[in-house]
Amino acid sequence: MKAQVVTVGLGYIGLPTSALIANNQMKVHGVDISKHVVDTINEGKIHIIEPELDIAVAKAVKEGYLKADTKPVEADTYLIVVPTPFKGNHEPDISYVEAATHGIIPLLKEGDLYIIESTSPVGTTEKMMQLIYSIRPELEDKIYLAYCPERVLPGNVMYELVHNDRVIGGVNEQSTKKAVAFYKNFVKGALHPTNAKTAEMCKLTENSSRDVQIAFANELSLICDKAGINVWELIELANKHPRVNILQPGCGVGGHCIAVDPYFIVADFPMESQMIAQARATNNYKSFWCAEKIKTARLEYEIKHGKAPAIALMGLAFKPNIDDLRESPAIYITERVLQDAGNSMLYIVEPNVQNHQIFKLTNYQEAIEKADIIVFLVAHKEFKLLKLDGNKVVIDFCGVTKKI
Ligand SMILES: NC(=O)c1ccc[n+]([C@@H]2O[C@H](COP(=O)([O-])OP(=O)(O)OC[C@H]3O[C@@H](n4cnc5c(N)ncnc54)[C@H](O)[C@@H]3O)[C@@H](O)[C@H]2O)c1
Repeated sequence: MKAQVVTVGLGYIGLPTSALIANNQMKVHGVDISKHVVDTINEGKIHIIEPELDIAVAKAVKEGYLKADTKPVEADTYLIVVPTPFKGNHEPDISYVEAATHGIIPLLKEGDLYIIESTSPVGTTEKMMQLIYSIRPELEDKIYLAYCPERVLPGNVMYELVHNDRVIGGVNEQSTKKAVAFYKNFVKGALHPTNAKTAEMCKLTENSSRDVQIAFANELSLICDKAGINVWELIELANKHPRVNILQPGCGVGGHCIAVDPYFIVADFPMESQMIAQARATNNYKSFWCAEKIKTARLEYEIKHGKAPAIALMGLAFKPNIDDLRESPAIYITERVLQDAGNSMLYIVEPNVQNHQIFKLTNYQEAIEKADIIVFLVAHKEFKLLKLDGNKVVIDFCGVTKKI
């Protein structure tokens, strides 16, 4: 049976998407540059952790609807789901999207549909259109191109892929219609048509909006610290206003989306995106500030007790109750504290991770017991249940100990 869909990139988004399409009886040829990924999938197994994905992939492979390969083949629809990181200077890196597109250009034929799902800077879909037409000019206006961002929550991907609303933007109206018809095959959420640039900007807007709102909460936490006000109580009270909804502060912002995507706007619109850039700076500064606070607490303890304190750093993940450490502000803080620990013994804790390549991890109960200063970096559920010795110094950056 000939492949109907080629998916390029079989990671956290590409593999669940491929399995979902395949389980809707469309023949999918999944492509990844990693041979390990390809071999694992062809055995009906998975290389990433995501609930229910193992069952979906095993079924799709067993029934012959999903096959993985390191090379693409001819199909009717091509989905680009490769990484879009940023470079050292916070400029977006679309070289993976370009490489994936180059791979399928020789295979394209009249009537085919090309969709980018990777989070991309505004104008990327049109750029790829130009690239395709520069190599295959005979295809101009004879293929369909669209952008459709992904907004699933890791841990609930298999449900959200089907049920979330999606924004779909073509380079022209026919492309939008063709892409909407494609997603109708496996998405139950509403499909919202627009143009490619708006769809690209929509994904960046969603994550920038979260970043700006968190920056506001983090800024409040700095002000309250200086003013001697409990920020958690303040936010709780302010949120009693019927039209106010302030988020919770933390030790910064992490993860591979919110801490990354706003830079895609800032890089292209530096003059216009002052607030978005400032939110990034504020959230980054909050992590620096936390590390400085820990240092001050260590020095104060030394002066008061004449000895270096043992310090427990509680949490490494970028948000509560997960094992994802990507772009985690808690990692940044831990590294800074380690660099400047004096004679202090450090206990590094992350209950969701067994081993870490760099840090020696300690069980959270042991760390609490041995530490003189306890620093909460991530509000993991285990930490909320701890009974803390009143004689210890507690620094809570994420509201673990708040009584409200
Ligand atoms: N993971 C999420 O929660 C999430 C949510 C929304 C959007 N996104 C976006 O989706 C895109 C993909 O993210 P992900 O988390 O699935 O990434 P990932 O790193 O998990 O997977 C990407 C896969 O692409 C493969 N790859 C790289 N270059 C390739 C090429 N030229 N040809 C074939 N395969 C190639 C890699 O080997 C890898 O297996 C990114 O733009 C990301 O920002 C991710």
